[in-house]
Amino acid sequence: MQKQTIIVTGGCGYIGSHTAVALQQAGYNVVIFDCCVNSTPETLDRITEITGVRPDFEHVDLTDALATHNAFEKHPHACGVIHFAALKAVGESVAQPVRYYRNNLTSLLNVLNMMVELNIPNIVFSSSATVYGNPTELPATEQTPLQPATSPYGQTKLMAEQIIRDTVAAHPNMHAVLLRYFNPIGAHPSGKIGELPNGVPNNLMPYILQVAAGWREKLNVFGNDYQTPDGFCVRDYIDINDLVDAHIAALQYMSHQENNIDVFNIGTGHGLSVMEIIRAFENATGVKIKYEIAPRRAGDVPAIYACANLAQEKLGWCAKIPVTETMKSAWLWQQNISDKKQG
Ligand code: UFG
Repeated sequence: MQKQTIIVTGGCGYIGSHTAVALQQAGYNVVIFDCCVNSTPETLDRITEITGVRPDFEHVDLTDALATHNAFEKHPHACGVIHFAALKAVGESVAQPVRYYRNNLTSLLNVLNMMVELNIPNIVFSSSATVYGNPTELPATEQTPLQPATSPYGQTKLMAEQIIRDTVAAHPNMHAVLLRYFNPIGAHPSGKIGELPNGVPNNLMPYILQVAAGWREKLNVFGNDYQTPDGFCVRDYIDINDLVDAHIAALQYMSHQENNIDVFNIGTGHGLSVMEIIRAFENATGVKIKYEIAPRRAGDVPAIYACANLAQEKLGWCAKIPVTETMKSAWLWQQNISDKKQG
């Protein structure tokens, strides 16, 4: 049987690269579309090392309609798109709203336009728990009311969900799955691919890793006086390898999807505090993390974690990887990039 082709936009990035590996291992043919503005084409070599198969690659800026058209025209028989390509730094989006709206929305519009033109039926979209804002209930279910976004980045996720909803409503042959990710962490167990932040990391896990590697002196823990069990912010940290499996499950589900669009939370269902994450890293790796309590970070919600029952019920997916393993894979990846930096 001929392999089904999936276009992975942003496939050289953190989540995209892990998804490309998982897709290849599940028997799909993968085509990556990326302009590598926040990633590197070397990731293609790493994917090839892991799977033994080099994904097809189109170096394309998806905000450019003509370039997007040309890239899609080379792959008219693709049966689905997993759309990751987007800018994702919350603080940067507040400082550069036009860039964020333009980039994240224009690229989505160009992708959808070509899907309609070529009759590519399926889209899986990477949305975010940010759409729940400070959730009105915990755990957050897919029915938990959406909140106005607190950053242009968050607003692009809300708007993108709506754009996809309207598009599939207008084109009944199209199907969409919106995956609302909680906090993805960790790396491929080989340590060959992982998260590679530009400059000072915004997110907790890469910051911890860089302190552990000696790249940064200490971690600032933003706030210890929240109304949470230990006073620290609580998040639902999901292993990247579990997270990417949800995309495979989503594609399989789309072959018999009854609705035109479904939304799923992708999280573990359990919250961990910043301090619990620091301790989990230390226990898994034996490396101590120097930290200091710092003021709260603007925009942080005290606690959010998922109810992921719907994904279990409909996709047959649930998170499985224990946090110790996640910490070990993250550390292996960090040590690999630290070796490269020194070498
Ligand atoms: N934190 C620190 N020190 C740091 C970095 C983070 O204490 O140096 C804390 C934060 O205050 C927060 C927790 O670690 O309590 C997690 O922070 P992250 O930045 O790793 O993750 P967020 O939950 O803030 O961000 C995630 C996604 C974003 C999304 C956002 C909104 O990474 O894409 O949720 O819900 F927009």
